[in-house]
Amino acid sequence: MTNLFEGAQFIEPAPSLASSPAEVQKTQAAVVFDDIGKVFTSSKGVATAALANITLNVARGEVFGIIGRSGAGKSTLLRLVNGLEKPSSGAVRVNGVSVGELDERGLVTLRRRIGMVFQHFNLLSAKTVRENIALPLKIAGTPKAAIERKVDALLELVGLSDKRDAYPASLSGGQKQRVGIARALVTDPDILLCDEATSALDPETTQAILALLRDINRRLDLTIVLITHEMQVIREVCDTVAVIERGEVVESGAVWRVFGSPQHDATRALLRTLVHDLPADLAARVKPVHDIAQGDANILLDVRFTGADSREPDLGGLTNALSVDGSRVSFVHGGIDRIQGHAQGRLVVSAEVRAGAEGALQHQVAALLERARRFANHVEVLGYV
Ligand SMILES: Nc1ncnc2c1ncn2[C@@H]1O[C@H](COP(=O)(O)OP(=O)(O)O)[C@@H](O)[C@H]1O
Ligand SMILES: [Mg+2]
Repeated sequence: MTNLFEGAQFIEPAPSLASSPAEVQKTQAAVVFDDIGKVFTSSKGVATAALANITLNVARGEVFGIIGRSGAGKSTLLRLVNGLEKPSSGAVRVNGVSVGELDERGLVTLRRRIGMVFQHFNLLSAKTVRENIALPLKIAGTPKAAIERKVDALLELVGLSDKRDAYPASLSGGQKQRVGIARALVTDPDILLCDEATSALDPETTQAILALLRDINRRLDLTIVLITHEMQVIREVCDTVAVIERGEVVESGAVWRVFGSPQHDATRALLRTLVHDLPADLAARVKPVHDIAQGDANILLDVRFTGADSREPDLGGLTNALSVDGSRVSFVHGGIDRIQGHAQGRLVVSAEVRAGAEGALQHQVAALLERARRFANHVEVLGYV
């Protein structure tokens, strides 16, 4: 049970799923990474390749997640979008404009279209919540009354109207991040960049902040590019995900598809944090099926739903397919999740086989497997108990 997705067979999704109206609308790219390479050279002339061969399209209005381990190059990639870093090769285009070709004034204008949210909030401790949020507009010379109106509307949006005059030190982590988000939105950007925006928060607060990001994505039709090392974050809010490993994209696509049928070891490793393994008591009792002796046995099957089908998992059909002459079938572990409207998950099913019935046990196991495969995207024999 080390590699949970090994040998998986995957079924192409129904066309109706691949081209839902929402996906069709989001065709125009907000951000394009066109064959990006980035090499850092130290003062001693030592070169570090941080990014290579990165080509990605972020569609307008989507939440695009970039996931990878620490040091994979996520922050560097994000900083290319607002011109805080320059690519060594290739180009980044934002709303069709090549960031590398902008002069200082062009960059200032671009950055007003792009908000940024940070892991450690980056609030000014000597300024109130209102002053922190207002700062980008104050710098831009916006009239005071307009600033006040904007700040009040944003405080309302992030649910912090009662903290208007509080100082950051008196706020919880989640509240600080709400201020960070409000400040990022104050210039009415159409792209929001989030660099590990929930990594400093506890799980419950993380959920609330992710829900807020999803809400503003929909309400403001904001394109969000977020980077994270947590699959949970990708699952909660993203439409599309790119997995980066040592500066290269190893896999990308719709979240439900990548989660349902991960192709790369790095993705599987990241997903392992989400997948429930067999409970320890069960794992201790499972014996390999090639050892199966004559006699009755319960075959444990690993049954996976990858979200590739438009139908809901047919557990009645699965049960019938596994029950020969009234033999017992039970669901012993696992569950079904919904990701972007696609049912996916894993069930460990125990199905009884009896000596003397329908030929040798090995044949019965092979027949079970074949029947079960009509009702799931991937079925594997874990062993027997
Ligand atoms: N300013 C820099 N100078 C030199 N090396 C850098 C610089 N910024 C990042 N790096 C290197 O680039 C690689 C990717 O870093 P980063 O983008 O911060 O990764 P992540 O955000 O995924 O943790 C790392 O090896 C890091 O040490
Ligand atoms: Mg980083």
